[in-house]
Amino acid sequence: MLARISRTLLLFLLTFAFLAAPFAPTQSQAATTASAHALIRQPVRAEHGMVASAERIASQVGIDVLKRGGNAVDAAIATAFALAVTYPSAGNLGGGGFMMIRLRDGRTTAIDYREMAPSAATRNIFQDEKGNLIQGEGSSLIGYRAAGVPGTVAGMELAFKKYGSGKLSWAELIEPARKLAAEGFPIYGYLARNLVKKKDQFAPYEDSRKIFLNDGKFYQEGEVLRQPELAATLRRLQKNGAREFYEGETARLIAADMKQHNGLITMEDLRGYVAKERVPVRTTYRGYEVITMPPSSSGGVILIEMLNILEGYNLHEMGWSSADRYHLMAEAMRRAYADRAEYLGDADFANVPVAGLIDKNYAARQRSTINMTHASTSAEVRAGHPVGAESSETTHFSIVDAEGNAVANTYTLNESFGSKVVAKGTGFLLNDEMDDFAAKPGTPNYYGLIQGERNAVAPHKRPLSAMTPTFVLRKDGTLWFAIGSPGGSTIINTVLQVITNIIDYEMNIQQAIDAPRIHHQWMPDELAYEPYGLSTDTLHLLEARGHKVYVRPNAGWTTGEGYMGNAQGIMLEEKTGTRLGASDPRGDGAAIGY
Ligand code: GLY
Repeated sequence: MLARISRTLLLFLLTFAFLAAPFAPTQSQAATTASAHALIRQPVRAEHGMVASAERIASQVGIDVLKRGGNAVDAAIATAFALAVTYPSAGNLGGGGFMMIRLRDGRTTAIDYREMAPSAATRNIFQDEKGNLIQGEGSSLIGYRAAGVPGTVAGMELAFKKYGSGKLSWAELIEPARKLAAEGFPIYGYLARNLVKKKDQFAPYEDSRKIFLNDGKFYQEGEVLRQPELAATLRRLQKNGAREFYEGETARLIAADMKQHNGLITMEDLRGYVAKERVPVRTTYRGYEVITMPPSSSGGVILIEMLNILEGYNLHEMGWSSADRYHLMAEAMRRAYADRAEYLGDADFANVPVAGLIDKNYAARQRSTINMTHASTSAEVRAGHPVGAESSETTHFSIVDAEGNAVANTYTLNESFGSKVVAKGTGFLLNDEMDDFAAKPGTPNYYGLIQGERNAVAPHKRPLSAMTPTFVLRKDGTLWFAIGSPGGSTIINTVLQVITNIIDYEMNIQQAIDAPRIHHQWMPDELAYEPYGLSTDTLHLLEARGHKVYVRPNAGWTTGEGYMGNAQGIMLEEKTGTRLGASDPRGDGAAIGY
């Protein structure tokens, strides 16, 4: 309740701040308008460790692991398993994601545990005989066929074996989640409302109906949700290790239910799943190193392309709330998302010109096509020519431990509650990540994203993601902050705006996360903003330049209707090293430190 009141208060204050903001800032006014958008909220401060996640109980689970001597990776594993219980719309065993790890000695790595397409998933599997996209059961969005082979358990195991502290066992890291599933937790308001909202989609699936709709009786806020089948699955994982999920009883339960319902995932698919360690992609933005997620996410590459384009402008001088800044942000987004549509896909399958897309000279060429006084149209902005070319519900958490090791992890079921299918007897939801493929190249997916041939469906391929777990370093090479967000196609732009809010406008991490966001994704050719997020005067200035501006309607996948993302960040304070945690007011999460 308190969280809801404080969110409402914050939105009111943001609105007030906008109404009070100067109309069209001139260049000389710019510096003073840099932080005129919002009141300052201070992040949570802690001396040793910090966990910022989208759900308070899961953040506390992570902190408890840190207090017991576990490192950031141990805490990440325990938090991820806990979210699978307490945040079932996106926390998961049946989905996948990406974990960025930065060790205190500076080594940084990226774990790709994105889902893989089953062997039976071929290019046109989601099209009918006329070439139209299948709707409902059998589509890429709902039901058994929508699920890719889940990667979360394998990803956690890889992180545990290679980067865990060794002080806590695999079973100990799963235990808090198992206990929460067995003993239950009080359903919070957002979850109760969200479950009712999805009632028609859960209804056809027996176990989903039983667990998440209380067999049609629904749950009230505050009622305890117990998940005994999930507790039993977690118990098997504790006892038998991660391979249980891919070869044991859990695998058998998934494969049997799939077979009975015309699904695609087989025992062989589960046995063949591999999580992979990848080399992160990097750039510098105004001298600060940015280290982020490579393919099979598009997030890091597209984030870097946008940062490189924006680096050529003095955003600080323009002022945070100026039409010039919004214009440039939108033009950078438009160009980078056009490249996403053309060039990005699973680099294990398609030729993705990563080096060309993140090249500063390429960004300079992209910049040269931007006109300060006129918006481009997306129809005229096609993908550029880089060298070498050929959740909405997701959830992010950031963790920093006492030693300075850090994790930025984003994982997902894709849409809220994924495919809505609980594989019979397992207690967990399966993803609908197959929709992140181009089910029909050139046709928009759930997020309205146009995607190309490089992201066409193929057996064992990973669908393209936008998830963008990211680290930014100080100029001396030490960790400055970890950041990431859910939000489907808006994820990359959320991370972009938090980073530029901090670097260009010197906002603290909480303020940078709180600030209203905009979004452009090339197609559709629209510049979206959050409710109350843009003054009418600025909106008119942008329209005069040719932007098609619109306020986001209910997006349906965050707590706040129409708001973008649910970022979770941790910054290290200069000199003191104090951990500064910030959870997005758009959700019900919490940064907890010790
Ligand atoms: N399912 C959303 C993403 O991975 O981008």
